[in-house]
Amino acid sequence: MLPDDRRLQAANPTGWFEDLYAEAEAGTASVPWDVPNPQPHLVEWAGGVDGTGRRALVVGCGYGRDSEFLASLGFEVTAFDISPTAVAAVRKRYPSTSVSYVVADLLDPPAEWHHAFDLVVENMTVQALPVALHAEAAGRVSSLTGSTLLVLAVARDEGPEPDGPPWPLTPAEIEAFAGDGLTARSIRRDNGRWVAEFVRQLAMN
Ligand SMILES: C[S@@+](CC[C@H](N)C(=O)[O-])C[C@H]1O[C@@H](n2cnc3c(N)ncnc32)[C@H](O)[C@@H]1O
Repeated sequence: MLPDDRRLQAANPTGWFEDLYAEAEAGTASVPWDVPNPQPHLVEWAGGVDGTGRRALVVGCGYGRDSEFLASLGFEVTAFDISPTAVAAVRKRYPSTSVSYVVADLLDPPAEWHHAFDLVVENMTVQALPVALHAEAAGRVSSLTGSTLLVLAVARDEGPEPDGPPWPLTPAEIEAFAGDGLTARSIRRDNGRWVAEFVRQLAMN
Protein backbone atom coordinates (compact mmCIF):
# COMPACT_ATOMS: atom_id res chain seq x y z
CA MET A 1 0.00 0.00 0.00
CA LEU A 2 1.30 3.43 -0.89
CA PRO A 3 2.05 6.01 1.84
CA ASP A 4 -0.57 8.34 0.28
CA ASP A 5 -3.23 5.65 0.69
CA ARG A 6 -2.28 5.31 4.34
CA ARG A 7 -2.63 9.05 4.92
CA LEU A 8 -6.09 9.02 3.33
CA GLN A 9 -7.13 6.06 5.46
CA ALA A 10 -5.93 7.66 8.67
CA ALA A 11 -7.84 10.85 7.79
CA ASN A 12 -11.05 8.93 7.05
CA PRO A 13 -10.83 5.99 9.48
CA THR A 14 -14.08 4.25 8.53
CA GLY A 15 -15.10 5.84 5.21
CA TRP A 16 -12.29 4.30 3.17
CA PHE A 17 -13.81 0.82 3.57
CA GLU A 18 -16.84 1.84 1.51
CA ASP A 19 -14.56 3.31 -1.14
CA LEU A 20 -12.54 0.09 -1.30
CA TYR A 21 -15.61 -2.17 -1.54
CA ALA A 22 -17.11 0.09 -4.23
CA GLU A 23 -13.89 -0.09 -6.23
CA ALA A 24 -13.88 -3.87 -5.84
CA GLU A 25 -17.45 -4.03 -7.17
CA ALA A 26 -16.32 -1.91 -10.13
CA GLY A 27 -13.44 -4.30 -10.69
CA THR A 28 -10.75 -1.68 -10.09
CA ALA A 29 -9.46 -2.96 -6.73
CA SER A 30 -9.30 -6.15 -4.74
CA VAL A 31 -10.13 -6.53 -1.07
CA PRO A 32 -7.18 -8.14 0.73
CA TRP A 33 -9.38 -10.03 3.25
CA ASP A 34 -11.65 -11.51 0.58
CA VAL A 35 -10.75 -15.15 1.20
CA PRO A 36 -13.15 -18.05 0.80
CA ASN A 37 -12.63 -19.89 4.06
CA PRO A 38 -13.60 -18.95 7.60
CA GLN A 39 -10.81 -17.81 9.90
CA PRO A 40 -8.96 -21.02 10.90
CA HIS A 41 -8.81 -19.96 14.56
CA LEU A 42 -12.59 -19.56 14.56
CA VAL A 43 -13.04 -23.03 13.09
CA GLU A 44 -10.65 -24.50 15.65
CA TRP A 45 -12.29 -22.64 18.55
CA ALA A 46 -15.82 -23.63 17.50
CA GLY A 47 -14.87 -27.31 17.28
CA GLY A 48 -18.10 -28.20 15.50
CA VAL A 49 -20.30 -26.86 18.32
CA ASP A 50 -24.07 -27.02 17.80
CA GLY A 51 -25.26 -23.41 17.73
CA THR A 52 -28.94 -24.25 17.47
CA GLY A 53 -31.06 -21.89 19.53
CA ARG A 54 -28.22 -19.43 20.08
CA ARG A 55 -27.71 -15.95 18.62
CA ALA A 56 -24.37 -14.92 17.18
CA LEU A 57 -23.15 -11.52 16.02
CA VAL A 58 -20.27 -11.05 13.59
CA VAL A 59 -18.59 -7.64 13.77
CA GLY A 60 -17.26 -6.07 10.55
CA CYS A 61 -18.34 -9.11 8.56
CA GLY A 62 -16.93 -8.11 5.18
CA TYR A 63 -17.76 -10.80 2.63
CA GLY A 64 -19.25 -13.10 5.24
CA ARG A 65 -16.75 -15.92 5.60
CA ASP A 66 -17.15 -16.18 9.40
CA SER A 67 -20.88 -15.45 9.51
CA GLU A 68 -21.69 -18.15 6.95
CA PHE A 69 -19.55 -20.60 8.92
CA LEU A 70 -21.42 -19.87 12.16
CA ALA A 71 -24.74 -20.21 10.35
CA SER A 72 -23.60 -23.64 9.11
CA LEU A 73 -23.21 -24.63 12.78
CA GLY A 74 -26.81 -23.72 13.47
CA PHE A 75 -26.40 -20.29 15.04
CA GLU A 76 -28.96 -17.61 14.31
CA VAL A 77 -26.50 -15.09 12.92
CA THR A 78 -26.60 -11.32 12.57
CA ALA A 79 -23.59 -9.88 10.77
CA PHE A 80 -22.87 -6.21 10.20
CA ASP A 81 -20.50 -3.97 8.36
CA ILE A 82 -20.15 -0.22 8.03
CA SER A 83 -19.94 -0.49 4.25
CA PRO A 84 -23.32 -0.63 2.45
CA THR A 85 -21.55 -1.94 -0.64
CA ALA A 86 -20.02 -4.81 1.36
CA VAL A 87 -23.42 -5.70 2.80
CA ALA A 88 -25.04 -5.61 -0.65
CA ALA A 89 -22.20 -7.74 -2.05
CA VAL A 90 -22.41 -10.39 0.66
CA ARG A 91 -26.19 -10.66 0.29
CA LYS A 92 -25.65 -11.17 -3.44
CA ARG A 93 -22.93 -13.72 -2.80
CA TYR A 94 -25.18 -15.84 -0.51
CA PRO A 95 -28.71 -15.33 -1.89
CA SER A 96 -30.17 -18.20 0.17
CA THR A 97 -28.38 -17.34 3.39
CA SER A 98 -30.03 -17.53 6.80
CA VAL A 99 -27.68 -14.78 8.05
CA SER A 100 -29.18 -11.36 8.65
CA TYR A 101 -26.70 -8.94 7.04
CA VAL A 102 -27.09 -5.33 8.12
CA VAL A 103 -25.30 -2.02 7.71
CA ALA A 104 -24.25 -0.69 11.10
CA ASP A 105 -21.39 1.20 12.71
CA LEU A 106 -19.58 -0.53 15.56
CA LEU A 107 -18.97 2.90 17.09
CA ASP A 108 -22.73 3.60 17.15
CA PRO A 109 -24.50 0.23 17.25
CA PRO A 110 -28.29 -0.26 17.53
CA ALA A 111 -29.36 0.08 21.18
CA GLU A 112 -31.24 -3.24 21.08
CA TRP A 113 -27.98 -5.11 20.48
CA HIS A 114 -26.76 -4.31 24.01
CA HIS A 115 -25.75 -7.64 25.66
CA ALA A 116 -28.03 -9.32 23.11
CA PHE A 117 -25.87 -12.06 21.60
CA ASP A 118 -24.83 -15.42 23.05
CA LEU A 119 -21.70 -15.27 20.90
CA VAL A 120 -19.92 -12.26 19.42
CA VAL A 121 -17.07 -12.78 16.96
CA GLU A 122 -14.72 -9.89 16.29
CA ASN A 123 -12.17 -10.75 13.61
CA MET A 124 -9.80 -7.94 12.55
CA THR A 125 -12.21 -5.00 12.76
CA VAL A 126 -10.76 -3.12 15.74
CA GLN A 127 -7.28 -3.47 14.29
CA ALA A 128 -8.54 -1.91 11.06
CA LEU A 129 -9.26 1.30 12.99
CA PRO A 130 -6.59 3.78 14.14
CA VAL A 131 -5.12 3.17 17.59
CA ALA A 132 -6.95 6.22 18.98
CA LEU A 133 -10.27 4.40 18.35
CA HIS A 134 -9.26 0.98 19.73
CA ALA A 135 -10.45 1.48 23.30
CA GLU A 136 -13.85 2.82 22.24
CA ALA A 137 -14.30 0.10 19.61
CA ALA A 138 -13.29 -2.69 22.02
CA GLY A 139 -15.73 -1.35 24.59
CA ARG A 140 -18.52 -1.42 22.03
CA VAL A 141 -17.70 -5.02 21.09
CA SER A 142 -17.85 -6.05 24.76
CA SER A 143 -21.14 -4.21 25.26
CA LEU A 144 -22.80 -6.30 22.55
CA THR A 145 -21.79 -9.58 24.19
CA GLY A 146 -24.39 -11.42 26.20
CA SER A 147 -22.34 -14.48 27.04
CA THR A 148 -19.18 -15.23 25.03
CA LEU A 149 -16.84 -13.06 22.96
CA LEU A 150 -14.15 -14.35 20.63
CA VAL A 151 -11.58 -11.81 19.48
CA LEU A 152 -9.22 -12.70 16.64
CA ALA A 153 -6.58 -10.16 15.68
CA VAL A 154 -3.03 -9.70 14.58
CA ALA A 155 -0.78 -9.24 17.62
CA ARG A 156 2.02 -6.81 18.32
CA ASP A 157 4.12 -5.98 21.34
CA GLU A 158 3.75 -2.77 23.28
CA GLY A 159 5.81 -0.02 21.68
CA PRO A 160 5.64 2.67 19.03
CA GLU A 161 2.43 2.92 17.05
CA PRO A 162 2.69 1.08 13.72
CA ASP A 163 2.10 2.78 10.41
CA GLY A 164 -1.28 1.19 9.73
CA PRO A 165 -3.69 0.08 8.58
CA PRO A 166 -3.78 -2.38 10.09
CA TRP A 167 -2.92 -1.42 13.63
CA PRO A 168 -2.37 -4.82 15.33
CA LEU A 169 -3.41 -5.12 18.97
CA THR A 170 -1.03 -4.97 21.93
CA PRO A 171 -1.38 -7.18 25.04
CA ALA A 172 -3.01 -4.25 26.87
CA GLU A 173 -5.44 -3.68 24.01
CA ILE A 174 -6.52 -7.31 23.86
CA GLU A 175 -6.96 -7.40 27.64
CA ALA A 176 -9.14 -4.29 27.39
CA PHE A 177 -11.97 -6.37 25.91
CA ALA A 178 -12.45 -7.63 29.47
CA GLY A 179 -14.59 -4.62 30.29
CA ASP A 180 -18.30 -4.23 30.78
CA GLY A 181 -18.51 -7.29 33.04
CA LEU A 182 -16.55 -9.65 30.79
CA THR A 183 -13.73 -11.83 32.10
CA ALA A 184 -10.86 -13.24 30.04
CA ARG A 185 -11.28 -17.00 29.82
CA SER A 186 -8.21 -17.54 27.65
CA ILE A 187 -5.85 -15.29 25.76
CA ARG A 188 -3.19 -16.87 23.61
CA ARG A 189 -0.89 -15.78 20.86
CA ASP A 190 -0.54 -18.19 17.96
CA ASN A 191 1.56 -17.49 14.89
CA GLY A 192 1.44 -13.76 15.55
CA ARG A 193 -2.32 -13.65 16.16
CA TRP A 194 -4.46 -13.25 19.24
CA VAL A 195 -7.08 -15.86 19.97
CA ALA A 196 -8.92 -14.45 22.96
CA GLU A 197 -12.12 -15.63 24.59
CA PHE A 198 -14.09 -13.57 27.11
CA VAL A 199 -17.16 -14.60 29.06
CA ARG A 200 -19.81 -12.71 30.95
CA GLN A 201 -20.19 -13.89 34.52
CA LEU A 202 -23.91 -13.93 35.13
CA ALA A 203 -25.04 -12.73 38.53
CA MET A 204 -26.43 -15.44 40.81
CA ASN A 205 -29.95 -14.85 42.05
C1 LIG B 1 -9.99 -6.08 7.91
S1 LIG B 1 -11.67 -6.21 7.44
C2 LIG B 1 -12.10 -7.79 8.14
C3 LIG B 1 -13.38 -8.36 7.55
C4 LIG B 1 -13.85 -9.67 8.16
N1 LIG B 1 -13.97 -9.60 9.60
C5 LIG B 1 -12.93 -10.79 7.77
O1 LIG B 1 -12.14 -11.24 8.60
O2 LIG B 1 -13.01 -11.23 6.61
C6 LIG B 1 -12.50 -5.06 8.53
C7 LIG B 1 -13.97 -4.91 8.24
O3 LIG B 1 -14.56 -4.08 9.23
C8 LIG B 1 -15.44 -3.18 8.61
N2 LIG B 1 -15.52 -2.00 9.50
C9 LIG B 1 -14.58 -1.06 9.72
N3 LIG B 1 -14.99 -0.16 10.61
C10 LIG B 1 -16.23 -0.55 10.99
C11 LIG B 1 -17.18 -0.01 11.88
N4 LIG B 1 -16.93 1.11 12.59
N5 LIG B 1 -18.34 -0.66 12.04
C12 LIG B 1 -18.62 -1.79 11.32
N6 LIG B 1 -17.75 -2.35 10.44
C13 LIG B 1 -16.56 -1.73 10.28
C14 LIG B 1 -14.82 -2.89 7.26
O4 LIG B 1 -15.74 -2.38 6.32
C15 LIG B 1 -14.28 -4.28 6.90
O5 LIG B 1 -15.25 -5.05 6.22
